[in-house]
Order: sequence, then C-alpha cells, then structure tokens
Amino acid sequence: MYTTGGRMTWLPLLAVLLQLLRACRTAPYSNGFFYHDIMNGNGNGEIYFNGVRLHVKALEAPIFAARGTNVTLPCHYYYEPRLSAPRRTRVKWSRLPVNGGEETDVLVAIGLRHRSFGEYKGRVHLQQDSEGEVSLVITQLRLADTGRYRCEVIDGLEDESSTVELELRGVVFPYQPTGRRYQLNFEAAQRVCEEQDAALATFEQLYAAWEEGLDWCNAGWLADGTVQYPITQTREPCGGLGLAPGLRSYGPRHRQLHLYDAFCFSSSLRGKVYFLQHPHKLNFTEARVACEQDGASIARVGQLYAAWRFLDLDRCDAGWLADGSLRYPIAFPRTNCGPLEPGVRTFGFPSRHQKHGVYCYGMR
Ligand SMILES: *[C@@H]1O[C@H](CO)[C@@H](O)[C@H](O)[C@H]1NC(C)=O
Ligand SMILES: *[C@@H]1O[C@H](CO)[C@@H](O)[C@H](O)[C@H]1NC(C)=O
Repeated sequence: MYTTGGRMTWLPLLAVLLQLLRACRTAPYSNGFFYHDIMNGNGNGEIYFNGVRLHVKALEAPIFAARGTNVTLPCHYYYEPRLSAPRRTRVKWSRLPVNGGEETDVLVAIGLRHRSFGEYKGRVHLQQDSEGEVSLVITQLRLADTGRYRCEVIDGLEDESSTVELELRGVVFPYQPTGRRYQLNFEAAQRVCEEQDAALATFEQLYAAWEEGLDWCNAGWLADGTVQYPITQTREPCGGLGLAPGLRSYGPRHRQLHLYDAFCFSSSLRGKVYFLQHPHKLNFTEARVACEQDGASIARVGQLYAAWRFLDLDRCDAGWLADGSLRYPIAFPRTNCGPLEPGVRTFGFPSRHQKHGVYCYGMR
C-alpha cells in the first residue's frame, strides 16, 4: 500500500519536472506553448503510453507548385497498436529555413482551433478530411514559401515529427544590376532579386537549372549564403578543363564584405508580359509612361523570365525593362534572333536616352 500510494503522489511532480526539462531543452524552438495545459488533463494517461507509439508521416517526395496557387502538404499520424478512443493532440507546422537560421512557426492547432504566424497569417489552414490527417494547406504561394516544412504531432509529452519539402516551379537567372560583374554583397543580392520580382535561388533551384542547361561563368550568391556558378560546358576560364561539368562552389562567403553577382529565382505569374504595340520607339522614361498609359507597368526582369519559361513568350524585338536593361525573350530559336538555344537575350544597360521598344506587365 505504502509503495503504491507513494507513486501516485510523485507522478504529477515527475511530470512537472519532465515538462520543465523538456521546455529548457527545446527553448530555441519556442514550442513551450503546447505544454501549458497538460496538468489540467488526466496527467498520468497523457504521460505514459503503455507501449503505444505515435507515428507521423509526411510525404517523402518533394512537392512542386506554382506561385500564386494553393498547395497541400500531406501529413498523417496514427498510433501503434491502434487506439479505440480518439485522443486530444496538438499539431504544429514549422518551416526549416534554407540558410540554416531558426525554425519559424507556421501554424499551431489544438482540436479545431488554430493560429498562424508571421508571413503565413491568414494564408494557412489544416486539412483534416480523414482520420489522423493534419495536412497543411498554404494559399497564394509566395517565392519565399520554398523550403522544408516540419509536421509535428504532440500527444502529452510524446512528440513525433516528419518533414516535407516544398519546391516552387520556377526559373533561375543570373543577375548583374548595372551590367558590371561582382557588385553585390549578400544583402544587396537579396534586394536586387526582390526588385526584379524574384528571390535569391536556393542550391536545389540552381542545381535544377544547371540540369536544364544553365551555363554561367560568373559566381553568384545563393539563398544559403554560399557563392556558386553552373557550368555545363567545361572551359579554361570557368574552373578549368580538368573539372567535370557541374556547380562550381566557393562555399560560404562573407555576407558584408564579399561581392559577387546574384542568382535569382522567379516563378510563374498571374498577369501577362507583352511587347507594347506603339507607333514609335521610346526612351526609358517614355517607355515606363507608355506601359502605365496602357494600364500596366514596365516589366521586371523576373517577370520576363517567368513569361518566357512558362508561357513561351517569344519576341525578336529588344525592349526596355524596369531596371533599365534591354532584353528580348526567345522560346523558339531562329536565325537573326540570337543563339540557337532558347533564352532571354540581354543587351546590358544602354543609355536611357536611346529609343527602343518596351515590355509591359499587367493583369489584362
Ligand atoms: C485557394 O484557397 C482560397 C482560400 O481557401 C480559395 O478562396 C481559392 O479559391 C483557392 N484557389 C484555388 C485556385 O483553388
Ligand atoms: C525621354 O524623352 C522625353 C521627351 O519625350 C524627355 O523629356 C526625357 O527627358 C527623355 N528621357 C531620357 C532618359 O532621355
């Protein structure tokens, strides 16, 4: 009797200690949230599982989606052996950053209540169509949503998780803001990509672009703070003849002091990029105004690349873009329209007094 009684009184205290220990250990993840009401429940039952194991399964293969669409990241949990009665669980989705920073909260849910955080506020909810389903739905996908997501299910002090990768379908392009190479530190590289309606590319995105044939002999920043460049045709000035084709990496560089180009990533668009029909050629200022008068705005570089890549935009006329560069998109190569591969042809940054066509971007 004495022994049993002793255990009964000590269990709740043990639970508190475990809880505190756990809270300390996991402090950087700030998920203490989940444990605050444990003591209100049937303490014993929630702590001891009597050989029941919680399993959480997310999709192993990466999920590919387009910007602006809705995506579902599948995740299920179940118990082994199966339980007869449903249990109260908490669910947490978080995002693991590509550049090795802190995990960020996306959504937490207890029963039917849920809360979303930061950039995800109002854009995410749980899909719970079948038993144990806790899939995450993200609406209006943004470029910055790319990454690995953790699906975590907490039952008392039992806590299991699994991750799923979300990739945006997109196109990578090298970027030099003034036409001269190696002007950008890491933050400037982030900024110029955003200005072109794009984001710094991840390693996976650059790798996929290299597999599709991207070849660029200037090094550029990636989202993880490393500097790399993609080579499909080995040559002397680009890492030497002795190296196999691939991504050449300088590794992580100093984010303030070191200057390189940027590899930007742009995804599909809702609106339309078009070459403006206009009676005469325009200088840069006139070009911007002409797009506005057409109910649109002058296209940004990321938008031109996305239209070329996803909508086969093809036009053999050089046009102004928002950054003051002059380019044209060729989806179906032919004579007098640049090289024999598809691509966006670039003529650098001519004097803004020069007269050319213009590419506009609008919703029409
Ligand atoms: C995406 O989700 C939102 C909110 O649930 C919905 O209003 C919209 O119709 C969905 N869009 C598509 C393309 O399914
Ligand atoms: C473009 O032309 C307009 C006149 O139509 C002129 O006022 C403006 O200064 C010119 N801009 C540039 C950059 O040359």
